[in-house]
Amino acid sequence: MKHRHVIDLEDLTFAQLQQVIELAGKIKADPSKYSHVCDGKILATLFYEPSTRTQMSFQTAMLRLGGKTIGFDNPMNSSVAKGESLKDTITVVSGYADIIAMRNPIEGAAKAASLYSSVPVINAGDGGHLHPTQTLTDIVTLHNEKGRLNHLKIGLCGDLKNGRTVHSLIKTMSHFEGNSFVLISTPELSVPDYIKEIMIKSGCEFTESQNLKDSISDLDVLYMTRIQQERFSSKEEYEAQKGVYILDKEKMSLAKKDMIVLHPLPRVDEITVEVDDDPRACYFKQAVYGMYGRMALIILLLEDSNYFFHDNKTKVIVKDAVCPNERCITHRESYLPKAFVKSGSQLFCDYCDHSLDS
Ligand code: CP
Repeated sequence: MKHRHVIDLEDLTFAQLQQVIELAGKIKADPSKYSHVCDGKILATLFYEPSTRTQMSFQTAMLRLGGKTIGFDNPMNSSVAKGESLKDTITVVSGYADIIAMRNPIEGAAKAASLYSSVPVINAGDGGHLHPTQTLTDIVTLHNEKGRLNHLKIGLCGDLKNGRTVHSLIKTMSHFEGNSFVLISTPELSVPDYIKEIMIKSGCEFTESQNLKDSISDLDVLYMTRIQQERFSSKEEYEAQKGVYILDKEKMSLAKKDMIVLHPLPRVDEITVEVDDDPRACYFKQAVYGMYGRMALIILLLEDSNYFFHDNKTKVIVKDAVCPNERCITHRESYLPKAFVKSGSQLFCDYCDHSLDS
């Protein structure tokens, strides 16, 4: 089935990803050339969850391309507050806008929205699940700052359980030759098993560590993440994890001279402010690369009739099945078809990717 929704960066082929990276570079080099490409087009930003970078960079991207924006950044100021379903909101908004970027705290919400939208839906983050345009941001940054997307040793540190940016990045970077990961977290915040299975399946090497200081010296990239307070079920559980990993000048002194530090931001306390002045600290540049990546993606989705994706997964509807992931959208929006992706003898939720057996 052909579609133009960006739910998971895996929807894009390698060539399509390259197209975005190349176009982002061209826009950065000569922005005025693209300042009317989206004249007359409207982007809707539907943010059910707080955001600075993703929301504003999407809006800025569309404005810089000559288009306009509508939307909300607080669903309580929309008819969601009156109990409107995701299906109805998306059906209506897709009649107003040419493209939708949506962030929602519920896992699989973006996939659910795409079922009811007549225009492209871009997943701007769905709970702890995925954040594909952050990964786009990350790979545009890696391409520009490291000059390659392969043969990189990438350390991921912090909240690897709830960090959707981590999940999206691993899924994408494990497809490039020679990449390996060092997963640095406490046992409580380790990467979910389904993400480990993806690395194993793609033959991508990974090791696990609980110690940032011991792991930093041979990394090409260190991807720091925030401990995601809003995803914990109690304050006590969060307090037990917060502040465990802090990147400071001393640890930076142990790293390679050409290692780069990335962070999707916002930062809380996991990188000390003194590290900002180190030329290897690329996280603020990364936020700017994200705007160019989103500009490129919007252009390709709206203006290039050859830019679409194929969903070749084998889907089955299991009417009585219940996704075991309590954070899945199927537990909130009861009308959704109970769709599962068949892989070998296993079934995975089509919305949140969790195994039916887990
Ligand atoms: N990186 C990122 O998603 O930042 P925001 O939450 O500010 O959008």
